[in-house]
Amino acid sequence: MAVLNPREELVSLLRGSFSCPMISSLGKRGVLTLMLEKPFTVESFSEIVDKDLFASVLIYFVSLGLLKSAGQVDKSGQQTYVVTEFGDKIFRRYGSFNLLNSYGAFLSKIDEMLFEPFNEEKPRCDRLENVIGSGQTNGRKFFPKALAMLEKMNLGLIADIGCGDGNFLSRVMNIFPAVSVIASDISKTSVDFTMQNLKKLFPEAQIDSVLTNAADVESWASVVAEHSQGTQGQTVISMWYLIHEISQGKEEVVIDFLTRIHKACPQAGIMIGEIVAIPEDVLATNRYGSIMPEFLFFHDVSGQGVLGWDQYQSILTKIPYELAGESLFDIVKDGDGELPTGFVWHLKPKKVGKQ
Ligand SMILES: C[S@@+](CC[C@H](N)C(=O)[O-])C[C@H]1O[C@@H](n2cnc3c(N)ncnc32)[C@H](O)[C@@H]1O
Repeated sequence: MAVLNPREELVSLLRGSFSCPMISSLGKRGVLTLMLEKPFTVESFSEIVDKDLFASVLIYFVSLGLLKSAGQVDKSGQQTYVVTEFGDKIFRRYGSFNLLNSYGAFLSKIDEMLFEPFNEEKPRCDRLENVIGSGQTNGRKFFPKALAMLEKMNLGLIADIGCGDGNFLSRVMNIFPAVSVIASDISKTSVDFTMQNLKKLFPEAQIDSVLTNAADVESWASVVAEHSQGTQGQTVISMWYLIHEISQGKEEVVIDFLTRIHKACPQAGIMIGEIVAIPEDVLATNRYGSIMPEFLFFHDVSGQGVLGWDQYQSILTKIPYELAGESLFDIVKDGDGELPTGFVWHLKPKKVGKQ
């Protein structure tokens, strides 16, 4: 791990409170993408209403090394800025800022929640910001690896359980235009949104949906089994960050969940994308290079059962599936060993007699 002196460490802890909401807002509104394209002035973005405030933000970004003066003024005497090489790296990852900032409302109430009887419902995360953030992060990291694994197959049917906004399904359909699709989610908004998106993008495609809790395996797996009978090619059931939603933090729950899927759809493969619970002491020694402390905090306060890597390894030995493909992400050091903070697994049913 890089070594920061205590003062640098203090500054890094403090800085995010200012920079994160600013980068998140300008990223979400498309301003950072435009900044990355060409030099600009405070007047370049017609949608910004408070130009004086924006001018202060630009000066702040210069002082962080994200922007620099382009060394010229425009016709009306305005200072022109360009994004620095460092700013380029940061601004392209604005989705990561959206992801963290989506919990801003919760964090702004931390004092009241900790010290006063808090009778209101706890503030939730900003769904839109969260979806933009996770979409960007997944799109850059997780989905390309999963798609590369699928590309090697003769895919006939994809069922995405916890389909979100349908982003993953649309990427699969781009590669396999003739694939049959099942979109399932516990949220009606997600299912409706996915159906709308996919039907607009792929008017000819065969898409079905199931509105259900994924933990009620039989309710959706029977639909998958029925569709896969009438489909040429292999069936894959994908689930992105769904396991931690239903696991209750228990290995047995996940084993039972996967075993029930196998019972209902014995031929289907499974694609799992997950994050991994890293022990606090390991996070502490990796703290400059990992955003997992913040991710795990939010999963913890919202009661989600993120499992550890050792638990996933144990699960692998107790399910009727074997690994057909694996991608590990953002590895952290654990003494002499290493732990992934996220992974994609492609599981295929074990051959009969191999359990
Ligand atoms: C991070 S999103 C998945 C991303 C999505 N597959 C994509 O392509 O971008 C997680 C989804 O799981 C859904 N979800 C959470 N708990 C669930 C449950 N118990 N059953 C089914 N869906 C669930 C949420 O509503 C959310 O849409």
